[in-house]
Amino acid sequence: MKRLLITLVGVVHFLSLVSGAPQKTFQERQEEIASYGDVAKAIINLAVYGKAQNRSYERLARLVDTVGHRLSGSKSLENAIQIMYQNLKEDGLENVHLEPVKIPHWERGEESAVMLEPRTHKMAILGLGSSIGTPPEGVTAEVLVVTSFDDLRRRAPEARGKIVVYNQPYVNYSSSVLYRVQGAVEAARVGAVASLIRSVASFSIYSPHTGIQKYQDGVPKIPTACLTVEDAEMMSRMASHGVRIVIQLKMGAKNYPDADSFNTIAEIRGSKYPEQVVLVSGHLDSWDVGQGAMDDGGGAFISWEALSLIKDLGLRPKRTLRLVLWTGEEQGGVGAFQYYQLHKANISNYSLVMESDSGTFLPYGLQFTGSDKARAIMKEIMQLLQPINITQVFRDGEGTDISYWIQAGVPGASLLDDLYKYFSFHHTHGDTMTVMDPKQMNVAAALWAVVSYTVADMEEMLPRS
Ligand SMILES: *[C@@H]1O[C@H](CO)[C@@H](O)[C@H](O)[C@H]1NC(C)=O
Ligand SMILES: *[C@@H]1O[C@H](CO)[C@@H](O)[C@H](O)[C@H]1NC(C)=O
Ligand SMILES: *[C@@H]1O[C@H](CO)[C@@H](O)[C@H](O)[C@H]1NC(C)=O
Ligand SMILES: *[C@@H]1O[C@H](CO)[C@@H](O)[C@H](O)[C@H]1NC(C)=O
Ligand SMILES: *[C@@H]1O[C@H](CO)[C@@H](O)[C@H](O)[C@H]1NC(C)=O
Ligand SMILES: [Zn+2]
Repeated sequence: MKRLLITLVGVVHFLSLVSGAPQKTFQERQEEIASYGDVAKAIINLAVYGKAQNRSYERLARLVDTVGHRLSGSKSLENAIQIMYQNLKEDGLENVHLEPVKIPHWERGEESAVMLEPRTHKMAILGLGSSIGTPPEGVTAEVLVVTSFDDLRRRAPEARGKIVVYNQPYVNYSSSVLYRVQGAVEAARVGAVASLIRSVASFSIYSPHTGIQKYQDGVPKIPTACLTVEDAEMMSRMASHGVRIVIQLKMGAKNYPDADSFNTIAEIRGSKYPEQVVLVSGHLDSWDVGQGAMDDGGGAFISWEALSLIKDLGLRPKRTLRLVLWTGEEQGGVGAFQYYQLHKANISNYSLVMESDSGTFLPYGLQFTGSDKARAIMKEIMQLLQPINITQVFRDGEGTDISYWIQAGVPGASLLDDLYKYFSFHHTHGDTMTVMDPKQMNVAAALWAVVSYTVADMEEMLPRS
């Protein structure tokens, strides 16, 4: 019996060697992960209490106070990319380079929306990315207020020649954002001349929240902008009382030919399996309002910080840790798509892809997408963060810039924190350094560094489905 067992184990071991499948048992992996306890403590001490404290915040402040926002296609984005290239070189990181990407170039120009009836009221708006402009005299029309796409369909006969105002309730970002992305197309289908969308926001102090919208072939392009929650609700109340509303919308928005840009890359080369990669990332581009400090300066800079911390401790993981600062994310993950096309030939050597693009406030934990076996390993790794009591592993590790890899089977992870706060400032004039907290960034960077280092240094890659 014992002999048979040994033979079986031998066969399984041999098969797994041949197929490249994991060879360690879960218990062996647990023990291996526990052996990173001291490294995790060293990272935490350096990032949260030691010499590196507040560094990611201070580095970020210097960049965004200097260059400001970083809209796709803008000079300030390209300026920021060149500054980051220098920063990463001066930090002593390896294989620092830029990978060219063509990205959309849209500019908002001057814009205004004035309610003419039932009273004069100048409204705060922000044109939506890729929207066309209006003629110089603007578009003046009566308003049709709807609360959903279904409501619009029911009232389609009333929409012709009107400005459709969507007052959809905020449910969550992923479902409510469809109004921003598709609102203009749906309104144009039923003959509207423009559409104004209630900002996709968890909270409002009269602030419009911009973002990308998409036209569809075969559907007329109409100008589109977002409104504040306050104005959308007010117009909804007016309409429910039968009050006629007229708005004059002026937008100077223009689309230009695609511009030259770059994904910015830096590494700590692996000591034993340099071809194998753990990718950590955030996006460098932003909207053209505020400073893009939260979205996604924070994610980009804790990702850089993760490599800095590991380097400062003199650590070199077995596989390569690769930092990618994406370009053109806000235009629909344009830089990420280019990177995937270029590097997917090596997909079998990507152990984990990580993206922070939902805020770098005090983390609740890690969101993870991958096989059950990989999830069990991530739960063990998160136990290394006991000293800062952030050990939870949630679902839904996807993010715009890593989704191609995750869909193709690579395990993926995102940072989870206070999304209510995040979507209060998202894509607004209020996305500035004032939203950021150096101590919270320290903790987020420590988590990011511990997870990326451990996965990059464990003897085996994360198992896939
Ligand atoms: C880090 O920032 C916090 C919060 O602003 C501050 O209290 C602390 O003194 C800073 N630490 C260092 C070393 O500057
Ligand atoms: C968002 O809300 C929709 C509609 O209620 C729901 O189906 C979806 O699961 C929610 N998504 C998240 C991420 O909570
Ligand atoms: C793929 O990986 C190999 C090493 O395994 C490397 O030489 C090559 O440059 C990589 N290709 C890309 C496009 O990343
Ligand atoms: C992946 O890395 C291994 C070594 O770790 C190498 O032998 C193999 O060629 C790489 N695969 C690809 C597709 O680059
Ligand atoms: C640790 O975090 C959990 C939630 O993630 C919380 O319930 C608990 O109170 C925290 N413990 C300490 C000692 O802060
Ligand atoms: Zn973002």
